[in-house]
Amino acid sequence: MLELNGVHAYYGDSHVLRGVSLSVGEGEVVCLLGRNGAGKTTTVLTAMGYLKPRAGRVAYRAQDIALLRPFEIARLGVGYVPQERGIFPSLTVLENLTVFARHGDGGQWTLPRIHALFPVLEARGGNLGFQLSGGEQQMLSIARALMLNPSLLLLDEPSEGLAPLILEQIVTALRTLKREGLAILLVEQNLRTALALGDRHHVLNKGEICFTGSSAELGGNEAVLRNYLSV
Ligand SMILES: Nc1ncnc2c1ncn2[C@@H]1O[C@H](COP(=O)(O)OP(=O)(O)OP(=O)(O)O)[C@@H](O)[C@H]1O
Ligand SMILES: [Mg+2]
Repeated sequence: MLELNGVHAYYGDSHVLRGVSLSVGEGEVVCLLGRNGAGKTTTVLTAMGYLKPRAGRVAYRAQDIALLRPFEIARLGVGYVPQERGIFPSLTVLENLTVFARHGDGGQWTLPRIHALFPVLEARGGNLGFQLSGGEQQMLSIARALMLNPSLLLLDEPSEGLAPLILEQIVTALRTLKREGLAILLVEQNLRTALALGDRHHVLNKGEICFTGSSAELGGNEAVLRNYLSV
């Protein structure tokens, strides 16, 4: 579905992505790991059209999307959950969920289904975004992306800063999404979460992919775990 091939990206003169290639297939959960500053968010921003690659190819369902704008990529079916969550603090939970939701397109994600996935969002429906805990904000951010009925979800560090019990709820929800066939590119620094969810893993170091493999291959590769991940 998503394919990055030899992608180079810059912030001004700063060369951040140095030939990144990765792919996410139909229904696949692919993890992107790496230390702080490795280029994980930059990779996601490039896939979503917020940053234009200076070289390389970004394709979604075989269509070149490198020059499309973020809303155009979203419209093709790519959902995005940013690292900073990006919910509207002064809107209610319910408003956050419905402001951008598509109406009348027969999409599978409806409020009742969102509430079944994250019951707390129903209980907190009238609360304002800023009143939510970090975990609730993360759930809302994921739920809001789902309301656009994506076929591929880009998730930037959903586990960051969450207490173990909340993280478990989010992992359970992501497992449900995976079971239903949603393709996910999951940026993670939490190795356990990545191993629990990922079909395949890419490890980034200084803007380059330095490892690609299965959960068993990643879990058993002590050099990669030691050198490129914080474990
Ligand atoms: N807007 C920006 N302008 C200039 N440099 C940036 C900008 N955003 C990120 N960088 C730099 O690009 C590199 C990659 O950053 P990026 O945010 O992609 O890393 P990351 O892997 O997502 O890290 P983290 O785990 O901390 O979120 C870092 O060296 C960072 O300092
Ligand atoms: Mg990041």
